[in-house]
Amino acid sequence: MDVVLRPLTRADLDQVLALEPVLFGPGAWSRGTYLDELAAPGRVYVAAADGDRLVGYAGIALGEEAQVMTVGVAPGHRRRGIGTHLLAALLDAAREAGARSVLLEVRASDDGAQALYARAGFVPVGRRRNYYVAEREDAVVMRKQLRTGPGPVGSEAT
Ligand SMILES: CC(C)(COP(=O)(O)OP(=O)(O)OC[C@H]1O[C@@H](n2cnc3c(N)ncnc32)[C@H](O)[C@@H]1OP(=O)(O)O)[C@@H](O)C(=O)NCCC(=O)NCCS
Repeated sequence: MDVVLRPLTRADLDQVLALEPVLFGPGAWSRGTYLDELAAPGRVYVAAADGDRLVGYAGIALGEEAQVMTVGVAPGHRRRGIGTHLLAALLDAAREAGARSVLLEVRASDDGAQALYARAGFVPVGRRRNYYVAEREDAVVMRKQLRTGPGPVGSEAT
């Protein structure tokens, strides 16, 4: 794979904003949302780049229970493991930051994305009604446990 993962930066935003409606339709984020996200503490955004071309990106909000904010791969670059690599980078960041678990929401109709997450160890734990307001579609909530036991990272039983 010639695609490399690196941090997503403001310089990528023109390409991100061109991909957003393609990937997320009416749920596409604005430049303002991305500027806020990239500046917010505890956020990790990763780019998948093929040379100068952005072919995917993903982001996570760190915390005790980390939250996947987005994962997207450009059409034409899918089913080559890029989504899996992006998700693995988010999980590494969450683990390093001491997260106990990772949560995400995914479209109830999106079997492909749910399969990607299931392969990474996420299990469905609930449903949010009409979470995708514009499309009136439910979200499936999926969760992956990273560690067990109380207390801060390092205190878990081995
Ligand atoms: C979901 C998405 C990120 C997957 O990216 P990708 O780079 O194609 O994913 P991978 O190549 O790593 O796929 C890994 C596995 O997930 C599953 N999978 C991924 N896309 C699938 C699809 N469309 N149909 C069925 N299974 C799929 C498969 O098991 C796949 O393994 P395989 O190719 O060996 O069968 C991409 O399709 C996308 O950007 N979709 C639009 C945005 C979106 O819905 N994002 C997720 C919600 S936040």
